[in-house]
Parts: sequence; structure tokens; C-alpha cells
Amino acid sequence: MRHLLSTGDLDRDEATLILDTATELAQVGDRSVKKLPTLRGRTVVNLFYEDSTRTRTSFELAAKRLSADVINFSAKGSSVSKGESLKDTALTLQAMGADGVVIRHSASGAAHRLANWVDGSVLNAGDGTHEHPTQALLDAFTMRARLGRLEGLRVAVVGDILHSRVARSNVLLLTTLGAHVTLVAPPTLLPVSVHTWPCEVSYDLDRVLPETDVVMMLRVQAERMRDSFFPSVREYSRNYGLDGERLGRMPAEAIVMHPGPMVRGMEISAEVADSPRCTVTEQVANGVSLRMAVLYLLLGGS
Ligand code: NCD
Repeated sequence: MRHLLSTGDLDRDEATLILDTATELAQVGDRSVKKLPTLRGRTVVNLFYEDSTRTRTSFELAAKRLSADVINFSAKGSSVSKGESLKDTALTLQAMGADGVVIRHSASGAAHRLANWVDGSVLNAGDGTHEHPTQALLDAFTMRARLGRLEGLRVAVVGDILHSRVARSNVLLLTTLGAHVTLVAPPTLLPVSVHTWPCEVSYDLDRVLPETDVVMMLRVQAERMRDSFFPSVREYSRNYGLDGERLGRMPAEAIVMHPGPMVRGMEISAEVADSPRCTVTEQVANGVSLRMAVLYLLLGGS
């Protein structure tokens, strides 16, 4: 494995190796000196063309915990705002000897293009509405840590599937790992090709919840919408928002996940967001270990 572009590229053994490596590396975070010398002398470039809180800092921390040198490059304040293309930016980073490039871009397919232009490893940190593989991996890691298994697990992914790169990466990864996924959304927020995805589809959240071990709530990605996809915020949250009452209809051990950023009062109520059954901060903590594992496996070889 040279790049991490899509979870669809991972077979069961490769995905499991990443999760197991993350479990081992998580122990580094519990030490007083949270650092390993593994990637000393290697350079990781964080190339972020879109806003990010969690993913960028998580990749930075992960690379630093493995002793890599990290360069943070954001489109704002760089020559991108002077009109430089992705290709020329990539060739510049290449000339500086980047061993790994972590890229987030608003165009679906940007990470794949970049992989053709640079010699180092490319890690997709979110490309448009396409994929976000490390998010899906940290989600699977969190499910396994909380519930002890992935095989046979019933996972519902709820909300704006149409604009979500998290949904596609999760469906591909979770089915590879033996879980069953149901997408729940209004018809307007499902991609037209959804019948080709390896999962079930439902428009009825209340029907799905009692038979679900994990519910993953997604943000409505208003910044990617040029049309109106539902009548009002109130109606959306009445039909597809998770509140305490709905949570009460889930099995007692079921958990609530969210990739962040949450919009409280829209897809998730404050009560649910703050409940011990919601894993949102665990997902963030696990994200660092998971990204350490991916960097280690991609860049750690001699
Ligand atoms: C997601 C993203 O950017 O795709 N966030 C994340 O990386 N944790 C989801 C979102 O923006 O709603």
C-alpha cells in the first residue's frame, strides 16, 4: 500500500492491520512522553484547501508523535490565492522532498490526481463529496473499541448522505469488515446511484433505530448546497434529528457517533450530544492513534 485514497482499496486484512496498529499506538498517548522516533527524518506536508478543525490538527499531532517534520500548508496565505494550480503546488512540495502529503480539497478526485504527480505517499483527508478514509477508519476503530466487534454490527448512517464523503468511506469500509449499513435520509439527500452501494436505504429513522447498534449522525452540509433540499430546519430535525426520546428507542448498549462538526439542535440535540452514549470526543482521540497507524504503515518502511 503506497497511498490511502479510498477505503474501497482496502481488503479486510489491510483494514484490520490498520486498526490493530492503531490499538498498539494508542498506548503512546497514555505515556508522559508521547513520542516515538519511528518517522524521524521524514517530512509530512498537510495540504489543506478546505476548512478543518479536527482532521488537520489530528494529522499534525499524529505525525509529530512519530517524530516526523510537519509542514502545514493552507490555501489561504499561499500562492494558491495567486492562482497557482494544484499540480504546480504539488511539484513544489515534491521538489522539497515531501515523503507524505495529506490533502483536503473541495474537488472530488483531487487526492487521486495528486497521487499521479508526487513520488511520496498521498493520504486523502477529504476530497469534495467523495471520500474521507481516515474518518471511516477511526469510526470503525471506535465501534470496535466500544462494542468489541464489527462483524454483524448494525450501523445506521443518518442525514445528508448526498454531500457526505464520510458516508461513502464508511459504507465501503464497514461492509468490508462485516458490518451491515443502512443509510437513512430524505430522498432529496441521497445520491442517485445509492442503489449501487453495498447497503440498505430507508427514509424512516424511527423504524430503523430499534434495530441499530450504532447510529452515525451527519451534519447537513449547507456549504455544498446550491438548492433547497428540505422545507425547513424544523421539519428536518423533526424527521431526521436525534433527540433523547429517539435515543430511548434504541437498544440499551447502542452508541451515537458524529464525525463533527455537530450542529446542535439540527441533526442532534444537546442532550444526546452530551450523553455518555455519544462517542464524539472518543472519535477525536482515536483519530490521532489511527492516523499515527496510517502514517506509520505508509511511511515507516526504510
Ligand atoms: C467531516 C468532513 O469534513 O467531511 N468532518 C470531519 O472531517 N470530521 C464532516 C462535516 O464536515 O460535516
